[in-house]
Amino acid sequence: MRKRLRKLLLVFDIRLKEVNMTGEQWWQQAVVYQIYPRSFQDSNHDGIGDIPGIIARLPYLKSLGVQVIWLSPIYESPNDDNGYDISDYCRILPEFGTMADVQEMFSVAHRLGLKIMMDLVINHTSDEHAWFKASRQSKDNPYRQYYIWRDPVDGHEPNNWQSDFGGSAWAFDDTTQQYYLHLFSKKQPDLNWENPTLRHEIYSMMTWWLNQGVDGFRMDVINLLSKPVHFVDDPNVTTENHSSSMNFIANGPKIHAYLQEMNHEVLSKYDIITVGETPGVTTKDAIKYAGTTANELQMTFQFEHTEVDNSREGFGKWSDERFNLVTLKRILSKWQNDLYGKAWNSLYWNNHDRPRVVSRFGNDSDQYRVISAKMLATTLHFMQGTPYIYQGEEIGMTNVKWPSITQYKDIDTRNAYDDLVLKQKRMTPDKMMSYIYHSSRDNARTPMQWDKTLNAGFTDDKPWLPVNNNYSEINVSAALSDKQSLFYYYQKLIHLRQTMPPITTGKYVVLDIADDSVYAYRRISDDAQLLVISNFTEKMQKRHYERPDSATVLISNYDDDLGDTLRPYEAKVYLF
Ligand code: GLC
Ligand code: CA
Repeated sequence: MRKRLRKLLLVFDIRLKEVNMTGEQWWQQAVVYQIYPRSFQDSNHDGIGDIPGIIARLPYLKSLGVQVIWLSPIYESPNDDNGYDISDYCRILPEFGTMADVQEMFSVAHRLGLKIMMDLVINHTSDEHAWFKASRQSKDNPYRQYYIWRDPVDGHEPNNWQSDFGGSAWAFDDTTQQYYLHLFSKKQPDLNWENPTLRHEIYSMMTWWLNQGVDGFRMDVINLLSKPVHFVDDPNVTTENHSSSMNFIANGPKIHAYLQEMNHEVLSKYDIITVGETPGVTTKDAIKYAGTTANELQMTFQFEHTEVDNSREGFGKWSDERFNLVTLKRILSKWQNDLYGKAWNSLYWNNHDRPRVVSRFGNDSDQYRVISAKMLATTLHFMQGTPYIYQGEEIGMTNVKWPSITQYKDIDTRNAYDDLVLKQKRMTPDKMMSYIYHSSRDNARTPMQWDKTLNAGFTDDKPWLPVNNNYSEINVSAALSDKQSLFYYYQKLIHLRQTMPPITTGKYVVLDIADDSVYAYRRISDDAQLLVISNFTEKMQKRHYERPDSATVLISNYDDDLGDTLRPYEAKVYLF
C-alpha cells in the first residue's frame, strides 16, 4: 500500500507542476498562518509579544510547513482596539520593535521561503492619527475631507447607525459642533473614501510597504469603505434591537470602483496574495470581489459559517448555543459550490476575532480534544480554497473562562457587557458571562503556549493577558515530542495540499447533507477522487459511502480503518 501511495504521490507531483504551468496561482496551493503579534512571543521581558519574538519562531512555522504568515497589525497605535486603530501606517508600534526589526523579519522569512502578509486597516484610523487630529480642528482644514463629518439632526446623531462595538456609530466633536462616523470604537473614525486625495495617499502607503518587501495584504473590513449615498436609517436597528449596522453599510455603491482602482494603481503591479475581510458577503458578492476576472482581490473572508451559532434572540454573536451541523454543512457547501471555477475560497475556522475552533465545533475535554481537533482540521483542509491556521490552532489551544468581566481586555467584550447587562439590563451578569465564554475575542488572544515553563514560555514577565491554565499539557514543546500530536497532523495536511492536486482543483460534492452527525464529501478530479468523512459526535456511527475496494486511506485520526464504523470524532480520507 505504501509503495502504491508513493507512486501516486509521484504522479501527482509531476501533475502539480503541470497544473502550475497551466495557470494555478501560487497562493492557491498555499497555507497561511495567522500571528497575533501581541500574544505570540515576547523577547524583551515586558509581557508583550514582539517582532524579535516572531523572528525567533520562524523556523517553527517553517517546520509546520506553511508558506505564508499573516501578521495582525504591528503599526503605531494607541491600542484602543489592539492595533486595529492605527495612528501611523509607516511606523512600528515601539512595543513590537523597530522598522529595522521588521526588515530583519522580512529577510529571515524570505530566506526560509516564507512570505509575509500584513494587515491593512484602511476603513478607519485611530483618532490619534495626524490626519484626524488635523481634521477635527476646523471645518475648512484640508484634512476635514479625510473623514466623515455631519451636522446634528434635531440636536441628535445624523441617523440611527450602530457601531459594531455597541452604541451609536456617531461621536459629537465639541470644537466644530459636528458628528464624525465611527463604525467601530469612538477612537476609530471612518475614513472618507469619496475623497480621491485620501485614496491616493493610501495607495502610496501600500506601495511603500510593498517596496519594503511585504508579500501581501489582509484587508480589514474592506467592504465597508463605500458608505450608502444617502445616510438613511438602518431599518434593522429598532428600540429593542441595537445590532451593529455593519451589514447594512457593507458592499456600498462605489466599493468595486475603489477596489478596481486600488488593484490598478497598486496590487496588479506585484505578485502578491490579497484577502479582504468582508462581513455580510454572499457568494454572489464574493464573486464580484474575488472572481477570476474581477481585478479586485484574490479571496474574501466570508462570515456565514462563523455566525452559525448566533443568538436567536437578536444578540448577534452573544449566545452560548451549540451549532447545528446541518446548517454548517449547508453554508460551507454553498461556498464550495457557488465559487467553483469562478472565485477562490478562503478556508478558516477561527482567527483573533473568533473563539477557538476545538472549543466551539469540536470537544475540548481531555478525552476528545486532540482527536476532535484533528477531525476539524481534516474537514476544512480537504476543501477547495486557501486554508488559514490561527496561532495555537495547530496545538489545539482552547477557550478560557475567567470569573469576572474585569479580567477581560477586549473592547468588544467589555462594551457588550456594559450595554447589554449594565445599561439596557437585557440579561443577567451570569448569562452574559456564559456568552462571553462562548464568543469573546479574548478566547483567541491568550498567549501562545510554547512549553510548560512559567507563562508557557511566552514571557518571563507578567503577560499582558493571562495564559490559559491548561498550558502545562497543551503546548508546542509537548506537541513536538509526540509523534501522534495535532501539530504533526497539521504538518501532514499541509504537505498533502502541496502534493495532491485534487485538493486544489477537484470538484466538491457533499454527501447526505441532512445527516446531522457526520460530514462527508467527495473531491472529484479527472484522475482521482477523495472521499472525506468526519464524525462530528462522540458517538459511534455507522455510515456507508460508495468507494472501490482499491481505495486507500490517505490520512486518518485513528490508527486503523473500521470501514463503515466511525468511532468518536473519527475523520478519514480515502483516495482512489
Ligand atoms: C476587523 C478586525 C477586528 C477589528 C475590526 C475593526 O473585524 O478583524 O479585530 O476590531 O476589524 O478594525
Ligand atoms: Ca516584548
